[in-house]
Amino acid sequence: MRMYDLIMKKRNGGQLTKEELTFMVEEYTLGNIPDYQMSAMLMAIYFEGMSDEETAILTDCMAHSGDMVDLSAIEGIKVDKHSTGGVGDKTTLIITPIVAACGVKVAKMSGRGLGHTGGTVDKLESIKGFKTSIPEEEFFRIVNKVGVSVIGQTGNLTPADKKLYALRDVTATVESIPLIAASIMSKKLAAGSDCILLDVKTGSGAFMKTVEDSIALAKKMVAIGEHNNRRTVAMITDMDSPLGNYIGNALEVKEAVMTLRGEGPADLTEVCIELAANMLYLAKNGTLEECKQQAEEAIQSGKALNKLIELVEAQGGDISVIENPDNFEQATIAHEVVAKEDGFVNHINTEQVGIASMILGAGRETKESIIDYSAGIDMKKKYGDKVVKGDVLGILYTNKGESVKNAELVFEKAYTIAEEKPECKPHIYARIELDKIERY
Ligand code: URA
Repeated sequence: MRMYDLIMKKRNGGQLTKEELTFMVEEYTLGNIPDYQMSAMLMAIYFEGMSDEETAILTDCMAHSGDMVDLSAIEGIKVDKHSTGGVGDKTTLIITPIVAACGVKVAKMSGRGLGHTGGTVDKLESIKGFKTSIPEEEFFRIVNKVGVSVIGQTGNLTPADKKLYALRDVTATVESIPLIAASIMSKKLAAGSDCILLDVKTGSGAFMKTVEDSIALAKKMVAIGEHNNRRTVAMITDMDSPLGNYIGNALEVKEAVMTLRGEGPADLTEVCIELAANMLYLAKNGTLEECKQQAEEAIQSGKALNKLIELVEAQGGDISVIENPDNFEQATIAHEVVAKEDGFVNHINTEQVGIASMILGAGRETKESIIDYSAGIDMKKKYGDKVVKGDVLGILYTNKGESVKNAELVFEKAYTIAEEKPECKPHIYARIELDKIERY
């Protein structure tokens, strides 16, 4: 078999067979297919797309390109979740303790942030001593004992995706629905949980800018999950505004704690309850309505917050910052950005807010960048809020004085202020099960 022929077949709109996709993924992972040929193939897929069958086979090949995690040492049903990423997305820190407090196991592998998006591993590492890299047996022990453990990706998980994603990143082929679906689902299948909840973000801070594209991606991923005997549901949630008010690692842990205390912002609380309820539903804890009540009760009773404390303690973290987030080290600079005009917040370019936060030191420009855990943004004005000239739009936190001017420019420009109050927008757009789409 020759890669040249496969590229030509896809370029001409053909469908790749199981043998052809297996050859392509195996040989590329081994280094026997050069990047220039794989780049051409990715571009052909970008333009010609892939059938559901091709996408499912590609996902399977990518999942099996490395270790398949065996979670059978953990008792009970294991539920995983995945967010397609965004700005201020601290939902994992909130919903995994909620779900564990309701008796369902979560053995979660998370990623780091890059560019304008944050990553759960970085957020957890803002807690002094928290270990995100632990031996597998320890990971299983914590999940069995506490009900939840969150670590960075271990071992040799989906090496094909690592290589392919890096290549897509530099060949303008990231935004392809079959390629995104295969990339995400190969990791979820390899990670070994029985059920998968997908949080597909939509809007200016997300990969998918429109609800329709997000639904198309979600449908593909749900079909792949179910085809592989994993109960899978996807929620389409808003990323046209940052989620919650805080962006930045320690700041987001603080907001997660506030939310688990029942004092979180309305958008974040609503999205977290809905996501947690769906994870419980997948684990067959009851009807969706019953699962929602369980999630709410876990917050009201304080059980979910206690679960987060147990998790942090089990992974070696300093629980004093969870018990009192004011114990987090504070940034030396707190700079207020004020509004220059009256009106209403009509739009927030969420990607730009993420970039402002990265400039302050909260995110990574390159994989090698070092994160300042105390850096970030406290957004004082969100979509639809009334603004009077001189009002504080947001507070920028950093230890890098030289970054403030640039971050302020980017942050200010992210806001569109208009005379008219804009229409209310939902925080959740749709819920997708196999062959079923519910719009909210
Ligand atoms: N996240 C992933 O893991 N892969 C993609 O292709 C896009 C987002």
